[in-house]
Amino acid sequence: MIEAVDPATAEQITIDLHLPPGGPLSGMAADVRAGLTKPFKELSPRYFYDERGSILFEQITRLPEYYPTRAERAILEHHSAGICATAGDPATLIELGSGSASKTRVLLDAMDSAGCLEAYAPVDISEQITRDTAEAVASEYGIAVHGLVCDFERDLERIPLSGPRMLAFLGGTIGNFEPAQRASFLARVANLLGPEDHFLLGTDLVKDRERLEAAYNDSAGVTAEFNKNVLSVLNRELGADFDLDAFEHVAFWDDENLWVDIRLRSLARQVVDVPSLGMSVPFGRGEEMRTEISTKFARDGLTGIYAEARLEMVDWWTDPEGVFALSLARRAG
Ligand code: SAH
Ligand code: AVI
Repeated sequence: MIEAVDPATAEQITIDLHLPPGGPLSGMAADVRAGLTKPFKELSPRYFYDERGSILFEQITRLPEYYPTRAERAILEHHSAGICATAGDPATLIELGSGSASKTRVLLDAMDSAGCLEAYAPVDISEQITRDTAEAVASEYGIAVHGLVCDFERDLERIPLSGPRMLAFLGGTIGNFEPAQRASFLARVANLLGPEDHFLLGTDLVKDRERLEAAYNDSAGVTAEFNKNVLSVLNRELGADFDLDAFEHVAFWDDENLWVDIRLRSLARQVVDVPSLGMSVPFGRGEEMRTEISTKFARDGLTGIYAEARLEMVDWWTDPEGVFALSLARRAG
């Protein structure tokens, strides 16, 4: 479905909704059922991002302990012109998991200065934030904006690509994929890229446990609220009766898997009803359910991950502290 958003700029903005007929979260029933019936329960992080979840994530990006957003912004501020030139001055920027695209403006500015910027395509599962971002970028840059509200894991091939393009996946969101999911996602990205196209990826880097654990256990409790918001989404969308006060936020660094493991721990023995699934889900006291992983990377590991997906790293940039990296890749020859 293609829908013009704002009559004043209708020729510049289109929003495609590639969502299941029942709405963005209607496909969640089978997925949630599978996750809640596993011996070690888990939920997909894609369900964090309803309107409130998107606002909470924006708050996380401003927390003193949450360094990734500031570090990635610093890299973009220092290197966007070089990134743009290395990527062959692309005309179109397609951004996966674009959210508010606040850092993306730095890249768009560099493309604008280089005189190559023609179009921007934000791709996100959250409809409101994609509409807001599309409208803001179209009016700030006076360019064509083609927003896509979809699940980038399911609908990647629907993204209209005509080159030369740069496909950006910022914020370290690649770290939220499990390794097998990540491998197949990157292989699909490689398949989408034409010979002139580039893939710009933000990755948070492995660092000391203390800093990592602080970033996911902030003192203001915003990450805990973000994590528990997934239970509100299940309550609203599936009629579940999760009591948010009966769970606590847990996040710890797993140095074998190189990820921060994010969970919700049941504070009591309890049974949660999920009427839409016809399920009653028992939780033991202290039982933990995984809601997200946030994998951290190193350059060598990422080079190998790219190679397995038939991608080739072209360049790599880090912030002055070396806590986060942006890398540019192309399809391996
Ligand atoms: N790129 C922004 C936002 C990162 S938060 C930044 O760097 O700050 C992750 C974003 O990915 C959110 O906007 C969320 O709605 C989106 N997202 C998460 N899972 C998704 C999925 N499966 N398909 C599409 N978008 C998804
Ligand atoms: C979106 N993603 C990269 C964030 C991260 O750091 O893994 C999500 C997040 N979860 C808790 N805090 C932030």
